Amino acid sequence: MCGIVGYLGKKNTKEILLEGLKELEYRGYDSAGIAILQENGFNSFKAVGKLVNLEEKTKDFITDTFAAGIGHTRWATHGKPTELNAHPHLGQSSYVVHNGIIENYAKLKKELMREGVVFLSQTDTEVIVHQFEKNLKSSSDAFEAFAKTVKELEGAFAILLVTKDEKNTIFFAKQGSPMLVGINSENEKYFASSDTPLIGHCTEVNYFEDGEYGYVTSDEIVIVDKIGNNRQPVFSKLSQNKLSAQKDGYRFFMEKEIYEQSTVIADTLMGRLGSEEVLFDELDAELFHGINEIKLCACGTSYHSALSATYLFERYSKIKTSVEIASEFRYRNPIMSKDTLFIVISQSGETADTLETLKMAKEAGLKTLVICNVDNSSMVRLADASILTRAGIEKGVASTKAFATQIAVFWMLSLYVAKLRNSLDANEIAKQITLLREVPASLKVTDSMHEKIKRLSKRYLHGHGFFFIGRDIFFPLALEGALKLKEISYLHAEGYPSGEMKHGPIALADPELFTIALLPQHMLYEKSKSNVEELSARDSTICAISPIEFDKADDFIQISTYSDYMLEFFEMMIVLQLLSLEISVRLGNDVDMPRNLAKSVTVE
Ligand code: M6R
Repeated sequence: MCGIVGYLGKKNTKEILLEGLKELEYRGYDSAGIAILQENGFNSFKAVGKLVNLEEKTKDFITDTFAAGIGHTRWATHGKPTELNAHPHLGQSSYVVHNGIIENYAKLKKELMREGVVFLSQTDTEVIVHQFEKNLKSSSDAFEAFAKTVKELEGAFAILLVTKDEKNTIFFAKQGSPMLVGINSENEKYFASSDTPLIGHCTEVNYFEDGEYGYVTSDEIVIVDKIGNNRQPVFSKLSQNKLSAQKDGYRFFMEKEIYEQSTVIADTLMGRLGSEEVLFDELDAELFHGINEIKLCACGTSYHSALSATYLFERYSKIKTSVEIASEFRYRNPIMSKDTLFIVISQSGETADTLETLKMAKEAGLKTLVICNVDNSSMVRLADASILTRAGIEKGVASTKAFATQIAVFWMLSLYVAKLRNSLDANEIAKQITLLREVPASLKVTDSMHEKIKRLSKRYLHGHGFFFIGRDIFFPLALEGALKLKEISYLHAEGYPSGEMKHGPIALADPELFTIALLPQHMLYEKSKSNVEELSARDSTICAISPIEFDKADDFIQISTYSDYMLEFFEMMIVLQLLSLEISVRLGNDVDMPRNLAKSVTVE
């Protein structure tokens, strides 16, 4: 996702900003830019695509005097990844960079436009700089104008702003998005949205808290806290280990990505939930005209989210839905009819098998949609329409947050289609939207949950196999749980529908067969419970995951009580991910780069 850097000092500002942005590259971005204020005024550069493009544009530009500089890598949310939409954004005499989303930007923009302000970009960010310059006219100084502006913004943000009205100063604000300032003995000030760009430059850093804003000059750091009091910076030593900084203190990227899910889902939902309807600005309702069927196609984890989607589309949108494994679909001469919407799902947007099925569907004249995490990927460029999952870059080979965001998008899409098809009454859609708003909370990893799973994992390091079982949408979740375990522990695991065990696999039941049973309260609880009891009676070792105590289990992981099965789904997903992680750690495996696997499978 987006990254921010800032520098105030006498060194080569351009190089420092570009180097800093390089350190944030791993987060993923689609454009980048810098703005530097020196004695003789501003210089600003932006480029779409990789940082080399920005380096090329700035190669003849030299900074060798005192300067205030800000830089940004952008992961498009509002508006396409174009140069005009790239940060920094310019007003009359100020530049701003921003991470997060300004939720009330449309209202502010309308008012500013009414007053004659011309907007150059489609971003929410641009309102910040214009609002600041508007406030400047009625304020005694730039800081007063900045403070007023910050108070007028709603949403999540980390902001840096530089203005000709107060040279030698960088203004900052933080609400919901990370931001820190670093210092060294040379009186320089460095800003960034995470530690890595500061390593090697700073010895000590101050992390800003939500609701804080202020400014820095060479001589001072002024911080106003959320209740309006000035506070002194609190410095802590900056670790000099870059890899660990990228992992934000977690042992593995996979672990970090599991913990991140609550935040990234909030990004996935942001701007897409109205009070009574789901909004996908990127979709034209025309895409669904004449459509009587949905076909989903994907591989691996994305296939599991597609399988989950079949339950949601049929349940809420009341539309016939089927799902296919891409590598199978492409060689079986499938019948494709034009009243079918063909949806491909992919984290990377580059998976060869899935991409090929998209080409086949296009050639057959079907309407196509891609649910993807990477803008500008091959699938996004090829499909008629796309929805980005906004999970941010996923580094662990075992997919976690990409899956969670795909499920959230499918849940929203099923309601979007339900509204178009009039298949769900307005109250039910509103109720579902309220539930969707609760997803980020259901994804929070608690210390007690993680500790419990860590302890329990030591009992599951051997055996002759694992069965992950569930019913309804918990069946694809069981498949996903089994895939996670296989990928990083190298233990044999299968996902199975709970009701299907008695048709064969139950023959394997003995104490060395581990059953991981998903027992949601709000989806076929009694039926699933009977299936687990059948296994327990045959001495299979059972680990049950449920909000309801279950005394037939050898191990029990209790999740929170919710009012709906989808919230149970998300918390159980976290439990399964952590269980695989901890088993893999105990077995001494490479969690982030498991043997024989690649993050993006671009070959058949
Ligand atoms: O990038 P994609 O979502 O298209 O990738 C599909 C699979 O290769 C991927 O989900 C794979 O199964 C992961 N390693 C699962 O953790």
